[in-house]
Amino acid sequence: MVPFPLTSIVSRAQELLGEVLNAGELAVDLTAGGGRDTLFLARRVGPEGRVLSFDIQQEALTRSAGLLTNAGISPFFHGAPPASPLPCGVHLIHDCHSRLENYLDASPSAVIANLGFLPGGDKARTTLPATTLAALGCALESLAPGGRLAVAVYVGHPGGAKEGRVVEDLFQSLPPQRWQVLRLQVFNCATPPFLLIAEKRS
Ligand SMILES: C[S@@+](CC[C@H](N)C(=O)[O-])C[C@H]1O[C@@H](n2cnc3c(N)ncnc32)[C@H](O)[C@@H]1O
Repeated sequence: MVPFPLTSIVSRAQELLGEVLNAGELAVDLTAGGGRDTLFLARRVGPEGRVLSFDIQQEALTRSAGLLTNAGISPFFHGAPPASPLPCGVHLIHDCHSRLENYLDASPSAVIANLGFLPGGDKARTTLPATTLAALGCALESLAPGGRLAVAVYVGHPGGAKEGRVVEDLFQSLPPQRWQVLRLQVFNCATPPFLLIAEKRS
């Protein structure tokens, strides 16, 4: 049996990040939401690794914490950049992902951004082009050699198409000498979501 639907771009993102993410490494979730991606990254890096997971909504971080706790993982909480390097474990960060740089003390092997709004939450609180671009720029800059950035883009909600174009432009501008870039897209739907993955050449 196949483990997930063919067109589940989030599952594809996890699969492709899992190929380059190992135990003990650093991973980043730019949009914690319900915590599914954070939990995936946490399981992948294990207790000796670290996951930094951002969200601007307390509701999302509360949901993520619940999912992690049910899986036997006790997260740390932050509302501002730490004074010293973060210990091993999962760090739920109540801050805008555009401030990623302030939290990094090492190069992540994998970064995920599942854009849009919190499912079942306030649909007006979506990711926005300027802050998304700032976060992705920092993620690309800081990725470890061989590391990957995966961005799931949803264009069906207000503002989604504009954000999608900004993200597409960013990925298309990456020089092929330094980056391998892949796009996966649902094909037979009116407002098809898509996945962009960039891998920094070693
Ligand atoms: C589609 S959901 C993420 C789903 C999540 N990755 C999961 O596994 O369930 C998008 C999330 O991005 C968050 N978000 C929106 N703008 C943000 C920002 N500037 N910084 C961090 N998170 C943001 C929203 O609050 C929302 O929870």
